[in-house]
Amino acid sequence: MTGRLVVLASGSGSNLQALVDAIDDGRLDAEIVAVYVNRRSAYARDRAEAAGIPQEFVPLRPYLEAAENERVGRETYDRELATRVSNHHPDVVVLAGWMHLFTAAFLQTVSAKVVNLHPALPGEFPGANAIDDAWAAHETTGLARTGVMVHLVPDEGVDDGPVLRSAEVPILANDTRASLEERIHALEYELLVDAVAALVTP
Ligand code: GRF
Repeated sequence: MTGRLVVLASGSGSNLQALVDAIDDGRLDAEIVAVYVNRRSAYARDRAEAAGIPQEFVPLRPYLEAAENERVGRETYDRELATRVSNHHPDVVVLAGWMHLFTAAFLQTVSAKVVNLHPALPGEFPGANAIDDAWAAHETTGLARTGVMVHLVPDEGVDDGPVLRSAEVPILANDTRASLEERIHALEYELLVDAVAALVTP
């Protein structure tokens, strides 16, 4: 049975593209039934449209403006987005460069497995600047490797949860930050496709 995926993205969407390509060439038996973005200019929207996948921009700001405080606004947004996602009956929700921390309201509303991608090893450099942080550690303390992980999202923890796939990326003597980032992204595409394929394989 073909797995149903909903992908949430905030930026370029190159990981979304990796999923689209893997489906196209038969490495992933799945269908991306919808893409949601939280940034109007996210290039992930163009990638979705090019692939014929319905996409929708759902911004957080109106929910924050309407709520009595930030927590309530975020919870309302998360519940609303989760409801829209759930209406597509996904087997897996993929956070592919989704730069928004969910409250528990999202996970309480979505019954599908939620998968996140993090450009660092388990337990290392949580947050939005993992590659910068690894590069800084390389320059200051000689960190010789970083990595990539794909994990389940069970709660509000940031870049934390049961690990589905992880692998190291060596930081080479002749690396620049850009060359390191390129290898991290290449590995992300591979591990994400592999982890999602395993989840949707009966
Ligand atoms: C990836 O490095 C992902 O791990 C991080 O944000 C980046 C998103 O890239 N959370 P893209 O939008 O998939 O190109």
